[in-house]
Amino acid sequence: MSNTALITGASSGIGAELARYHASKGGDLILTARRADRLADLKAELERDHGITAHAIAQDIGAVDGAAALAAQIEGAGLRVDILINNAGFGGLGNHIERPLTDEMAMIDLNVKTLTELTHVFGAKMAAQGGGKILNVGSVAAFMPGPKQAVYFATKAYVQSFSQAIDHELRPRGVTCTVLCPGYVETEFGDRADFGDAPMTKNSKLTAAQVAKIGYDAMQRGKLVAITEFQMAVALNWILPFVPRRLVMGLVEKVQTKTG
Ligand SMILES: NC(=O)c1ccc[n+]([C@@H]2O[C@H](COP(=O)([O-])OP(=O)(O)OC[C@H]3O[C@@H](n4cnc5c(N)ncnc54)[C@H](OP(=O)(O)O)[C@@H]3O)[C@@H](O)[C@H]2O)c1
Repeated sequence: MSNTALITGASSGIGAELARYHASKGGDLILTARRADRLADLKAELERDHGITAHAIAQDIGAVDGAAALAAQIEGAGLRVDILINNAGFGGLGNHIERPLTDEMAMIDLNVKTLTELTHVFGAKMAAQGGGKILNVGSVAAFMPGPKQAVYFATKAYVQSFSQAIDHELRPRGVTCTVLCPGYVETEFGDRADFGDAPMTKNSKLTAAQVAKIGYDAMQRGKLVAITEFQMAVALNWILPFVPRRLVMGLVEKVQTKTG
């Protein structure tokens, strides 16, 4: 039976680990990100270690028409997608008005617009195929406003809301949508976002491989929201809603402020 996963942002971090975990279960892959060399290495590793077939498509999916170009290449190669994992995303530290507007808008393009477009394209194909699974990588940032990463937190709030509604719409047609909400994880994400020594970088409890497994297993079970740590889930669902917003924002700003 066909079991091909399309994973965006597969060249590093959580995306690469999601690819490794899916391959370990015998699934085929379509790996995409911008860095072709990284994708080629991962393709070779997974085909060698697991005897699966992996396709590597180097594409800037945050660019205008990037998502459409990716979908066209998949269609052109005659590939069927059974699992869509929207993982590619980035953040960036700093006050909104002091950060380059181009970076802030590019974040919305990748984290929000591309994720939406790929869900639209492949969600429709999966519904027509009679089933499928979608895993959208959100964040604990979805649960609160995020001073010093105002746009990033807002993009993840979108992913959280969108994913749940998509699950509700598509579940009757055999397609589930799970949103994965990790806390801080040690990957290349922190370098790209310029986190430096901000206190939240000291809170990394899980590896990218552990986070990928939690998200993937939750997707397979058709779970709606997967928060990676139990205590975090309790705090986000049962405590945070009752804490005054200004207090929450002060704490978020503090953990995201570099000390050095
Ligand atoms: N690490 C954390 O603390 C953390 C916490 C919560 C949520 N998340 C979320 O987890 C997801 C994965 O992040 P990560 O931690 O694994 O970070 P990462 O190691 O930086 O991986 C990001 C991936 O996205 C790809 N990417 C970035 N811009 C792209 C573009 N324009 N077009 C195509 N691909 C692009 C990168 O590949 P190329 O550079 O090769 O294009 C890379 O493969 C993100 O959605 C992030 O928001 C991360």
